[in-house]
Amino acid sequence: MPTDSGVDRARLASLSHRERGVYADRHPRSAAAYASADHLFGRVPMTWMNKNAAGFPVYVGTARGARLTDIDGHEYVDFCLGDTGAMAGHSPAPVVAAVTHRLAELGGATTMLPTEDAAFVGAELARRFGLPYWSFALTATDANRWAVRLLRAVSGRPKILVNSYCYHGSVDESLIVVGPDGHGESREGNVGAPTDVTNTSRVAEFNDLAGLERELAHGDVAAVLMEPALTNIGIVLPEPGYLTGVRELTRRYGTYLINDETHTFSAGPGGATAAWGLEPDVLTIGKAIAGGIPIGAYGLSAALADALIGRADLDLVDMGGVGGTLAGNPVSMAAARATLTEVLTEEAFAGMIETAAAFADGVQKLIDDHQLPWSVAQLGARVEYRFANPAPRNGTESAATADAELEDFLHVYLANRGILLTPFHNMALMSPATTRADVDRHHEVFAAALAELT
Ligand SMILES: Cc1ncc(COP(=O)(O)O)c(C=O)c1O
Repeated sequence: MPTDSGVDRARLASLSHRERGVYADRHPRSAAAYASADHLFGRVPMTWMNKNAAGFPVYVGTARGARLTDIDGHEYVDFCLGDTGAMAGHSPAPVVAAVTHRLAELGGATTMLPTEDAAFVGAELARRFGLPYWSFALTATDANRWAVRLLRAVSGRPKILVNSYCYHGSVDESLIVVGPDGHGESREGNVGAPTDVTNTSRVAEFNDLAGLERELAHGDVAAVLMEPALTNIGIVLPEPGYLTGVRELTRRYGTYLINDETHTFSAGPGGATAAWGLEPDVLTIGKAIAGGIPIGAYGLSAALADALIGRADLDLVDMGGVGGTLAGNPVSMAAARATLTEVLTEEAFAGMIETAAAFADGVQKLIDDHQLPWSVAQLGARVEYRFANPAPRNGTESAATADAELEDFLHVYLANRGILLTPFHNMALMSPATTRADVDRHHEVFAAALAELT
């Protein structure tokens, strides 16, 4: 049991028990919906929806902007925002209009033919992220899978390198961590690996250039697949010089670099890549860029695109492993065009980042007031607190600071008072619709939780 989060465990246990009771009492309709879902595997549409702190999830009634209402009639300020899928806010009007126009007026949800919107979206992604050629998927997981396949093909090398405790979706090659002996090993709980992950992958800690070089020196790594800042094991920010060092080393060892911007897009309109002047060979993204409508995308450098197109032996058109019948469909493309031109604009990001700074400042002040050994990190529009100070420097350190009991307590306490955080950690994301009043409301409830805890 963790002992260093700075809270009294007995008090935490008793408060958690109380809050779970309050949650159960407040949500009879959600509880009944969960209890009656006899034909859903795990009672939920996706098994990860069982990752909630109170025994069953709240069921969504309505969602608009930064607000969500459950079927029991409670309203929430939603800082989870679909774990980034709804970073544009729920059902932003321009996206609703574009999707309605496409579906209801023009017609054609999926056609196996391009629409003009696709070229527009490709050009806009190129402008924002600096990579000239784009292709689409329906999820960021698939964007990563396809990028990995292309880079193995073009490099002739078998392995992918990732950071320990990364998350890039359910990409088999990414489920590897640095073990206690310093060598790569399968991530705990990995479901149905096709082979021992050390056959397909190498791993290095985030912020560890020496470890990265040691692994790249084997000469068998096709690509490094990484987030410019870790976001799925808490936010772990890059130390000065780290990302430049990654680029230098990948170039030196002939390894391609994929920046997965699915979450780090929060850093600005062109993600961390534009904000920090990064030069990946491939950039993958998904979630937010179509305002919540399913999408994934990957951008390729000109040199890489030329090398791939010139390879007559690669079947890029038929059965060659880069599939997705519904990818690039007219609805995704219309939604992405509207999101990028009218919702997640430069001005919107400026406001979101300012709101996030207010969120981070307020949380830091409360942590200081209560003298808790916790820290806060901000990545543009995304903020997260960790039960450790100083902040963890890599994924393994961050995983070691986990305190599931404390985290669950805070999530249920906040949910009982109308605040939603992402269920997987203490992440709060700002949409263009999130207001300072929403942030103040979080701080009020968070302050009350800390007062009861300490
Ligand atoms: C960095 C990163 N990449 C990829 C994914 C996978 O996204 P999706 O579940 O939409 O496929 C995630 C999901 O959280 C992610 O955080």
